[in-house]
Amino acid sequence: MSYRFGEKSGILSALLLILLLSLPSMALAGHGDSKPVKKGIMLAAFGSSMPETKVAFESIEKAVKKAFPGVPVRWSYSSSIIRRILDKEGRVVDSPATAMAKMMDEGFTHVAVQSLHTIPGEEYFGIADTVKGFEGMPKGMKKVTVGKPLLYSDGDMRRTVAAVIANIPKDRKSSDAVVLMGHGTHHGANIYYPASQYYFAQVDPKIFVGTVEGSPTLDDVKKQLKASRTRKVYLMPYMSVAGDHARNDMAGAEPDSWKSELTKAGYTCVPVLKGTAEFPEVVDIWVDHLKVAFDHLGE
Ligand code: CO
Repeated sequence: MSYRFGEKSGILSALLLILLLSLPSMALAGHGDSKPVKKGIMLAAFGSSMPETKVAFESIEKAVKKAFPGVPVRWSYSSSIIRRILDKEGRVVDSPATAMAKMMDEGFTHVAVQSLHTIPGEEYFGIADTVKGFEGMPKGMKKVTVGKPLLYSDGDMRRTVAAVIANIPKDRKSSDAVVLMGHGTHHGANIYYPASQYYFAQVDPKIFVGTVEGSPTLDDVKKQLKASRTRKVYLMPYMSVAGDHARNDMAGAEPDSWKSELTKAGYTCVPVLKGTAEFPEVVDIWVDHLKVAFDHLGE
């Protein structure tokens, strides 16, 4: 026992010695080590494993590369579940932390990160906190900025409302309702969904906003539909991609999908399986938020 203790303390003191010896060099690191400025962009989405969503991510990348010619663009998905599914299919996508670490190793000194989320909720703040951790790291990045999600300011709300309305199928008559399915969250930023309802109502009184995991709920939407005396409902995701929620919770055949519930309630439902990231006017808002973040990188 005492022998083992001696061995352990021997290892400990050796470790301590290594640490003490390396302290001066750690303190000196950075001296005469000024790296050339290298700016980059990192796009951070929640992610989706559905191949149908590829078109949305590709259109974002195309718009970003057009707005920032010559600036390298990297991707990350914040959902570990999605990354694991993709891994098994041989489609490896980095987490925000891994993407940043790789960029740091590649010598990037200034990185603007754009959140491709809808609201400034848990996912957005998680990414912001993660990537900000890379700022000021020894031999690492000098500056990291984060672009706002789709909905942030009053101006974003108005632009998003116009963008969504511009992409409602053209055969929709003004007497038909449009129900938007947002994600919803327990985070305080859920308030953006009832707020969206207010902004949509200013422009089109037959557009209703509901959420899967927050409020307004489907029951809230049903009450509004009833009061609106509508017979036909267009169902659209109020999410960046038409992924699992849109295809199953919204338009699925299960009895508790929104389509099934509203059909049972007597409405004719027309599901539209297009995420907001497939709307060029929505992508423009993210790109504008990225422009602000990129400007803040400075020199
Ligand atoms: Co979800």
